[in-house]
Amino acid sequence: MILIDGKKIAAELREELKKEVSELKTKHNTVPGLTVILVGEDPASKIYVKNKEKFAKEVGMNSEALRYPADLEEKTLLNKIEELNKDNNVSGILVQLPLPKHIDKRKVIETIDHRKDVDGFHPMNVGNLSSGYDSSIPCTPLGCSLLLKKVEKNLSGKHAVVIGRSNLNGKPMTQLLLKENCTVTITHSKTKDLKAECLRADIIIAAVGIPELVKGDWVKKGAIVIDVGINKTEKGIVGDVAFDEVSKVAGALTPVPGGVGPMTIACLLSNTVECFKKTQSK
Ligand code: GUN
Repeated sequence: MILIDGKKIAAELREELKKEVSELKTKHNTVPGLTVILVGEDPASKIYVKNKEKFAKEVGMNSEALRYPADLEEKTLLNKIEELNKDNNVSGILVQLPLPKHIDKRKVIETIDHRKDVDGFHPMNVGNLSSGYDSSIPCTPLGCSLLLKKVEKNLSGKHAVVIGRSNLNGKPMTQLLLKENCTVTITHSKTKDLKAECLRADIIIAAVGIPELVKGDWVKKGAIVIDVGINKTEKGIVGDVAFDEVSKVAGALTPVPGGVGPMTIACLLSNTVECFKKTQSK
C-alpha cells in the first residue's frame, strides 16, 4: 500500500512556487499578492487563515490577512472587496468560509473579481471549469487531483466514485475527474447503497464530512482512496475513511492529517501565482 504523503508533496510544490515567485520578481519587479479575509472567530478558520498567510509569505509573496468581528456589516465587506478588486498589488482574494449567517455568501463570492478569485468559487470560474475552459480551480479538489496523479499518471477510463456533492469539493472534483476521462459516479449521504457504489471504484474521493464512513469492506483491492474529511471526534481528528481497515485493502491512501490538507494551501498559492501571471501578461 502506498501512503500518499501530502505533507511532503505540498512542501515540494511550495518549493517550486518559491522559485517561480523569485523569477517573477526579477521579470516584473513585483510579486503576487494574496489577501485573505476572515470574519468572526471560528477556531478552525482562524488556524486556516494563519497558515495561508504564513505559507504565502514563505514562498515570497505579499500576504495580508484582514480580520473582522462577527458583527461586520455585509456592505462594509462588499466595499472592501471592491477596493481589493481595484488594487494592483492584490492578485488573489479569498474570503474564508463559513461566513456569519447575516452575510450573504453568494453576494460575497460574486463581488470578487473572477480574475482574482483564487478559490474558484465565482460562477464565471465554476462555469468555465464545467465547460472545460481555463479557470481558477477550487484548491482542495485541485490538491486531490495532484495527489492522484502522483500515484497514477493515466486516469483515463478509471471508475471514480466521489462521495459528497458540495460546491467546494464534490462538484469541482467531479469536473476534474471528467477532464481526465474518468467515469464518475457522484454519491452523497442520501445514496441508497453507498457500499456497493464504492466497491466498483478504482478511485474513491471521500468528501462528505462523516467520520470514518468508508470501511475496509467498501473498497476494492488496489483502489486509490483520497480522504478529504477533517472531522473532530472524541479520539481526535479523523477523516471520512476508516484508515486502519482501508489501508489493508487499498493500493494507495491519503492519511488524515498530512494528506489532502497541506495540498489545499499549496494549491491556493499556486492559484495566486496563476492569477498574477494572467494580469501581468495583459
Ligand atoms: N473553508 C473551508 N475550506 C475553504 C476553502 O477552500 N476556501 C474558503 N474560502 N473557505 C474555506
